[in-house]
Amino acid sequence: MRVARRAQDITPFHVMDILAQAKKLEAQGKDIIHLEVGEPDFNTPQPIIEAGITALKAGKTHYTPALGLPELREAIANWYLTRYQITVSSEQIVVTPGASGALMLVMGALLERDKKVMLADPGYPCNRNFARFVEGKAQSISVDASTNYQLTANHINEYWAKETSLALVTSPSNPTGTVLSNNELTELVKVVQTKRGHLVVDEIYHGLTYDGLVTPTVLSVDQNAFVINSFSKFFGMTGWRLGWLVAPEEYVPVMDRLAQNLFLAAPTIAQYAALAAFNDETLAILEQRRQQFEQRRNTLLPVLKDLGLEIKATPQGAFYIYAKATQLFSDKIANSMALTQHWLQQAGVAVTPGNDFGDYQAEQHIRFAYTTNQHRLLEAVERINKLGN
Ligand SMILES: Cc1ncc(COP(=O)(O)O)c(C=O)c1O
Repeated sequence: MRVARRAQDITPFHVMDILAQAKKLEAQGKDIIHLEVGEPDFNTPQPIIEAGITALKAGKTHYTPALGLPELREAIANWYLTRYQITVSSEQIVVTPGASGALMLVMGALLERDKKVMLADPGYPCNRNFARFVEGKAQSISVDASTNYQLTANHINEYWAKETSLALVTSPSNPTGTVLSNNELTELVKVVQTKRGHLVVDEIYHGLTYDGLVTPTVLSVDQNAFVINSFSKFFGMTGWRLGWLVAPEEYVPVMDRLAQNLFLAAPTIAQYAALAAFNDETLAILEQRRQQFEQRRNTLLPVLKDLGLEIKATPQGAFYIYAKATQLFSDKIANSMALTQHWLQQAGVAVTPGNDFGDYQAEQHIRFAYTTNQHRLLEAVERINKLGN
């Protein structure tokens, strides 16, 4: 077998191994509590499903334009007006197969061979692999609780090199759930402009924020930023594979060309279904779910701390808690990989080791995804507690 260097360099997700092991244990009759998977446990809201069925029955089974259904591009543009009170033209919207498709387009269009994209470590692992895939490089910057695990204008000033051409931030973040404020976004926009680079903001967890916070979009600070978003998380549509990119209008033709060649178009049924994502009935369901996520976070934070886990920056969004686990280590279990294995095998609790999100202090951290109900969350904590060290 001969595999191209670029494919050899793409790293796998450890969480997939954990998931596979968990499934195996389940097949043996064990009860596993899943806190490893980064997708909502709720099914897609019913109005979206109905719209999908109607589209399917009406024979909407052909390609759409590569940039997406015009009415969906309109609906997304309108979402920026209703949710953020900002005007975005539907011409700036590119509908993609998930945020993954949008990340692929952005990296493909903006990152030259051997040039670097600056990223936070810990951060979403696929980003560095996307960079590799287009023959660019990831420039990982170690971040900690002192900057809320986010890249800041200071980082950019300090580390921007002549090969750096873009900075990618995620707010709310995966794996830490931390959020960039309006001021922080403004500072990032300014500094990236002085470096003549591009700023890409992954806003995939927008809508899932807590403590009364409404996450600002970078578009209210800079109409020329590149924004990644998706129907996967807030809208509960992971399996439909639908996301979007907002790009400055002059970049849309290149995105169109790339989309035509890389995937032709996003899934048609999913696009018709998503037309129902912004109606009042759906939004009411999504708001209830957001509240449930907030309650789960509020339940889980104190009990994890009681277990001896350190949570140094309070997560204000997404559905993740990133915790330092060193207090739970022992001679036999001396890193997060070993700890996650121990919990899975001995307690039937699946979580993700920090190694999936980068290198910086990765072996000390684990990520909990509160994508299961309160009762199961508490049971997971109880099981871990019983294990002791
Ligand atoms: C930060 C971030 N960006 C992008 C994605 C990709 O999501 P999708 O392609 O399902 O929209 C994920 C998925 O977990 C994510 O966490």
